[in-house]
Amino acid sequence: MKIAIGCDHVGLELKPCIVEHLEKRGHTVQDFGTNSYERTDYPIYGKAVAEAVASGACEKGIVLCGTGVGISIAANKIHGIRAVVCSEPYSALLSRRHNDTNVLALGARVVGSALALMIVDAWLAGKYEGGRHAKRVDMLTELDRLR
Ligand code: RB5
Repeated sequence: MKIAIGCDHVGLELKPCIVEHLEKRGHTVQDFGTNSYERTDYPIYGKAVAEAVASGACEKGIVLCGTGVGISIAANKIHGIRAVVCSEPYSALLSRRHNDTNVLALGARVVGSALALMIVDAWLAGKYEGGRHAKRVDMLTELDRLR
């Protein structure tokens, strides 16, 4: 799978181990920065990753900041993006099954690297179930159209 990844200067703490983990599992990772600890702004990277996913250039995206909150909000501003911020694997898995999330946000100040990798694995393993969830996800898509 081709996965877009991006982070701010705080999220950078977590990024290398996630990239390594994904590549070891055979995924192709496209890195949208930042790759410096110099202070920067999470909306830049949330937008870049979200656009890569929304355009179809990448199948999924992973975004990282201090809490995962700011960068998930940024990603969710892009049409077609359903970003979820998670600090445990259960929500990550269910967000795929029920909400068809296409971007995962993690907080480098919230989760350590081992937990982050468990969350990533749970999220990637989750398959969207459609069925009764499809109507609701369609309603989310409709909300995009109202903007
Ligand atoms: C940066 O200090 C911090 O605000 C950012 O990484 C993130 O936590 C925002 O939601």
